[in-house]
Amino acid sequence: MPAIIVAVANQKGGVGKTTSTVNLARALIETGKRVLVVDCDPQSSLSIVTGVDPQALRRLEEQGKTLYYGLVKDVPLAELVIEGSPALIPASIRLANAETEIVSPFGVASILKEKLEPLREQFDVILIDCPPTLSLLTVNALTAANTVVIPCKTDYLSIMGVPLLIDTIENVRRRANPGLSVTGILPTLYNARANHDAEVLNELRNAVAHKRIEVFPPVNRSTAFDKANAEGRAALELFPETPGVDQYRLVAARVLGERRG
Ligand SMILES: Nc1ncnc2c1ncn2[C@@H]1O[C@H](COP(=O)(O)OP(=O)(O)O)[C@@H](O)[C@H]1O
Ligand SMILES: [Mg+2]
Repeated sequence: MPAIIVAVANQKGGVGKTTSTVNLARALIETGKRVLVVDCDPQSSLSIVTGVDPQALRRLEEQGKTLYYGLVKDVPLAELVIEGSPALIPASIRLANAETEIVSPFGVASILKEKLEPLREQFDVILIDCPPTLSLLTVNALTAANTVVIPCKTDYLSIMGVPLLIDTIENVRRRANPGLSVTGILPTLYNARANHDAEVLNELRNAVAHKRIEVFPPVNRSTAFDKANAEGRAALELFPETPGVDQYRLVAARVLGERRG
């Protein structure tokens, strides 16, 4: 069965996309799945938290072994995979140039989809960690994906951005990817003791109720996530007793139930 492709997307930065990608990958690995994570953000956070230090990243860049070369220079993505659990396709700052340099006779929005296709036989799940923009890279991720997971910080400005993301998803669905589903919105950095966070969470649920989009139970705010990121591990593995961390297992189960298109 070809891998299910999941875009982890939100155009806001700092809402937990990268942290969610890492923990969701871990939850899937726990169930015996072969997982590939693709760093689609020029800031390379995912590459760094999955263990590629900045020096190693520079070397990969010199060797032409980052996602940029796959999207722009036609290097097969299989040659960019760093084996591991999860396996990783790394990104460097040069990926920002891909926005203007991608050329394809079949459409610049579907280049990632096209290039990932041969890798779908080697993995059960491919997670794409999106950049904090609604740019061509994010549209490529949404075009390649079977489903989207939307991490959303439980503050007012973060939930304000969700309708725009949903519009973008609907646009991509209409134009390029009719099978694209939304697995759900995962509230992150949630402070269970703050009334305000509970209010914001309610508002988020109300805002998407008419779209029938699931809002998962929240992942709590905890320094465990940052500490785990610094260790290059998933909080789910390193600090399994962190409140809310097992929401990632629930999201993983839902992702596995989505159609592979
Ligand atoms: N549940 C959480 N509780 C506390 N800190 C978190 C949580 N999730 C993520 N973080 C921290 O918040 C920051 C932003 O997270 P990150 O995953 O990089 O977001 P994004 O990829 O959306 O920019 C990081 O420093 C990360 O360690
Ligand atoms: Mg990130």
